[in-house]
Amino acid sequence: MLMQDGGREARVPNVLDPASVDAQTVCPGYRLADAVTESDTGMIVYLTLAGEACNVYGTDIGTLKLVVEYQTAHRLRVNISPAFLDASNTTQYLPPEDLLPLPAGDGDAEMARSKSDMEFQFAFGSGDTFAFKVKRKSTGDILFDMTGAKLVFENQFVEFASKMPRNYNLYGLGEHIHSLHLGNDYAITMFNGDIGDPIDANLYGTHPFYLDTRYYKKAGEREMTLLESDEHDTSAEYVSYSHGVYMRNAHAQEILLKETNITWRTIGGSVDLYFFDGPNQADVTKQYQEVIGLPAMHQYWTLGYHQSKWGYGSWAKLQEVVNKMKENNIPLETIWSDIDYMQDYRDFTLDKDNFDAEGGQAFLNGLHRGGQHYIPIIDAGIYHPDPKNASDIYGTFDRGKELDVFIKNPDGSDFVGKVWPGYTLFTDFMATNAQEFWTNELDLLHQEIPYDGIWIDMNEAASACNNSCGTGIVTPAAGARHVERHEGHEEISKSNDRNLELPPYVINSAAGEITDSTISPNATHASGHLEYDIHNLYGHSILRATYNALMDIFPGKRPFIIGRSTFAGSGAYAGHWGGDNWAEWYYLYASIPQALTFSLFGIPMFGVDICGFGYNTTEELCARWMELGAFMPFFRNHNTKKAFGQEPYLWPSVASASRAALHTRYTLLPYLYTLMHSASSTGSIVLRALCWEFPTDPSLASADRQFLLGPSLLVTPVLTEGAITVNGVFPGISDGVLWYDWYTGARMDAQPGENKTLDAPLEHIPIHVRGGSVLPLQEPGYTTAESRKNPFSLLIALDKTGHAEGSLYLDDGESILPTPSLEVGFNVGNMALYVRAEGDFAGDANPISNITIYGVEEWQGRAVIIAGDKEGDMVSVAEKTSFEREMGVLRVGGLEGYSQDGAWSESWVFMWK
Ligand code: GLC
Repeated sequence: MLMQDGGREARVPNVLDPASVDAQTVCPGYRLADAVTESDTGMIVYLTLAGEACNVYGTDIGTLKLVVEYQTAHRLRVNISPAFLDASNTTQYLPPEDLLPLPAGDGDAEMARSKSDMEFQFAFGSGDTFAFKVKRKSTGDILFDMTGAKLVFENQFVEFASKMPRNYNLYGLGEHIHSLHLGNDYAITMFNGDIGDPIDANLYGTHPFYLDTRYYKKAGEREMTLLESDEHDTSAEYVSYSHGVYMRNAHAQEILLKETNITWRTIGGSVDLYFFDGPNQADVTKQYQEVIGLPAMHQYWTLGYHQSKWGYGSWAKLQEVVNKMKENNIPLETIWSDIDYMQDYRDFTLDKDNFDAEGGQAFLNGLHRGGQHYIPIIDAGIYHPDPKNASDIYGTFDRGKELDVFIKNPDGSDFVGKVWPGYTLFTDFMATNAQEFWTNELDLLHQEIPYDGIWIDMNEAASACNNSCGTGIVTPAAGARHVERHEGHEEISKSNDRNLELPPYVINSAAGEITDSTISPNATHASGHLEYDIHNLYGHSILRATYNALMDIFPGKRPFIIGRSTFAGSGAYAGHWGGDNWAEWYYLYASIPQALTFSLFGIPMFGVDICGFGYNTTEELCARWMELGAFMPFFRNHNTKKAFGQEPYLWPSVASASRAALHTRYTLLPYLYTLMHSASSTGSIVLRALCWEFPTDPSLASADRQFLLGPSLLVTPVLTEGAITVNGVFPGISDGVLWYDWYTGARMDAQPGENKTLDAPLEHIPIHVRGGSVLPLQEPGYTTAESRKNPFSLLIALDKTGHAEGSLYLDDGESILPTPSLEVGFNVGNMALYVRAEGDFAGDANPISNITIYGVEEWQGRAVIIAGDKEGDMVSVAEKTSFEREMGVLRVGGLEGYSQDGAWSESWVFMWK
């Protein structure tokens, strides 16, 4: 079946074509070729085709090598690659280790334990054809089971499948816009593209990782049965076990989720699977990040509010926005520039009329004096000057040519694409001098306009030509997003008998073929890799280079980068925004599963374009979006040039909703910063799904209209137009968890599983605090720097036994770790709070002003602080205390005088008997 597309016969993607050949029906699978070699930590098995080659979507590989490795006590690796790899084909089958480090095990010594003790039990059979299984020892459950499906391994097509239980619970596999819970009739395509946020299609990044959660119904002491329906009874007891699976393969790929089976297909590379045994989400995510790397620690100020718009056309316009934010008393931390600031959209240049360097410096001086920041955009494409026009001079291009850093065609000429400025080249971050080039360009720009972070865009990489725009075709090209199809380009490139441009298996990319709107698959990197084999890593490579550059430009300071195209592990270099969403209510909702999914991918610094990128937003939608966005780590309002402005001061209701939400966010900055630090140092996550925090309640498996910020705050946003109430559940109630209204301290009265209706007038977002938490807070200032000068306070929300705990992490907010820091632990029990401070960070010597306690049943009228654990330093502060008996809220104020040297300068105890 063929569809017409711009003159070329478009092929129908395999997953949409009922007539396409199912490899399972024609391919022979594999059988054992040889004896198995076993070691303490794994085994090696050779496989050979079990019948005649099928060559269905490429050429079958005759002999495969399967390596099983117990890399750590919780990680099993199963790698299947061609048995004979050499210099001629390695780049095709193995991802570049430099960009995607090969995960190391923790060494044989530590692995001396016997394989039979491992939680994962690996077994293989060679009945009809080779298949392997991974079993979880403690439940006896088979987690991955290839039996019944054949392994297909060709040079342009790899397929394997696993059986799944009915109604399985999978999360992850992105980037895409979809509900959090993946469902079992869904085909996911991963091929990075500049696609613009369609629902259920491939987007900018690739994250071949899933979390699989299985619930068991408990029956008696030991018995458990796997839950295979989405029905559950509220009186039964459940437990869950989660594991994770990561496929270290950067090729275009598809994962077909079917009723009782999941099928993985790639158009190249090898099978390189990593299984993480959990047993809960938090463990799985940490185990996964041991492989891909922990997220970067960002500077404190990055948690402030960011304002952007494509179309802010001059320094004067930026200044006007900064001023209006201030006049309206809406905190602004960072103002952004889109491509408007560049001369003719050329990277690293300034538009001489509206964004001159002198004016920029004056603007930035003022901005920085006010404790505010500035971030400009950089696109991936580097403008190619018109060789026929001697006055068309572009230094960045010249220096790049000189250093030989651009991606090439197979014949050694430059690969030419097209982006905003016209014809462009693309930096090959695999080239020897690429880092030097990139650092220098970013440095030169920084010398002209001292920016504070970088926004990397179009790094999929986006190009407005399908295939090369044509070798040597570098005369001026108008407006970029008009797609050109170059008719006379090189013949279909073949490499190792591969059809690189029209691979036989057609993925279902929203951009069309893999040649379309990006760098050609036959383009060649200096490392010898073809773009076909590493396309999905391009975005990652520019983020890494930008990170390295900023490390040099801001010595000792944490780089801040927000990037569009990411791969597994990009969180180590950058945060991410959700790309070109739409000002529609659906996308307000979708931002929750998007953000939660990026929690799983190790990119906590995530947010979407608040109020929506495309279309004109509405007052109500924008107000709701500012409220919700305030609870996501990356909080930026941005939209397209064509749409009206959507700065929060433009409508009274949006302004006041924003002020309220920002007040809460800035009050919570110490808590949020602590969460970000914990994510970056331990791999814990910041935004959490209800099912991850409450893993014994299967009714939460799909909940994605509410979420938690850290362990302690439940966010229940309004996601529908016109609504002034919102329904939400209060998880854990059946286990005795208490929830308090953040704003009033009122205890939530809800039954297990009950969908409560909450009041949510336009300027209000319901937030609840989980009993058992101590939240470190700070009085908000206009900027994060001002906030950091204000007194701290604590919010204690008691659990049903009167206990609570929490922590606070502080440092100077900007230095690369390790750096002097302070860790404060809060423990509450028996009407006493124990504050234990440890560390060598002396800054932030602010006092504590007040302590608020939710869930106090009785109060006898005393409140004392015992400084430094010494009885002698006991002071009574009861006169500054008020008790709202009805609400159970005790507020102790006026504490500044007792903590003049800083709230955390020593350990202390506070009692309210
Ligand atoms: C891309 C980005 C968007 C930006 C625009 C212009 O569409 O995703 O955020 O505004 O390019 O640079």
